[in-house]
Amino acid sequence: MKIIIAKDYEELSQKAFEVMAAVLDQNPNAVLGLATGSTPVGLYEKMAEDHRKTGRSYKGVSAFNLDEYVGLSADNDQSYRYFMRKNLFDKIDIDLNKTEIENGLAPVAEEECLRYNALLAKTPRDIQLLGIGANGHIAFNEPGTPFDTETHVVDLTQNTIEMNARFFKDISEVPRRAFTMGPKNIMDARRILILASGANKADAVYGMVKGTVTEDLPASILQRHPDCVLIADKEAAARL
Ligand code: F6R
Repeated sequence: MKIIIAKDYEELSQKAFEVMAAVLDQNPNAVLGLATGSTPVGLYEKMAEDHRKTGRSYKGVSAFNLDEYVGLSADNDQSYRYFMRKNLFDKIDIDLNKTEIENGLAPVAEEECLRYNALLAKTPRDIQLLGIGANGHIAFNEPGTPFDTETHVVDLTQNTIEMNARFFKDISEVPRRAFTMGPKNIMDARRILILASGANKADAVYGMVKGTVTEDLPASILQRHPDCVLIADKEAAARL
């Protein structure tokens, strides 16, 4: 794993943008795996700014998101589909028909997982962007998820529900279940870019980089990826 330590969140976002831009420079029709959460927001701002300033086009780009809450429609302002439009897709010229995410309202969850796995299998991602949970989760793969798992539905842990409550009016509104790519889908991407910001991520980052590879810390699987870049700010990298 290549490790880049940034002095602050601004530098982390800039360095992440450079990694993303290199992929897009090489292939204007790149397939991007994208993430939600607070950490990539600065990167998405930089991508939008670059599009405004340089005119870089995303018309040929396709995107796959990691995860989506079960039960939320695309226009619900807490859905991850909505998050992606607000933070990135509506600010660049990507074709929304080429942006994929699990359907939170799919009537049969198992069929939705199969549909998403089949799409992922036939559309290899050039890069997969990830954040990391304070408990070492990647996407919604909580500790204990078998490494060979593909897209599935998870019951969110209390810890994750509490962390996500900041985006909702009340914790009771946080969905209890989500669709998520599994560790296996994540590892299938050609390149991985994982971002970590803040002191509350320091233990998870340490475990991911220096600990044993174990399903108890899902992000530790990234040690086995041949082309993984971690960009962490000083606080998140404090224990490295
Ligand atoms: C988001 C996702 C999550 C987050 C993680 C970190 O699509 O899959 O695994 O990346 O929970 O979230 P933030 O960035 O809000 O700290």
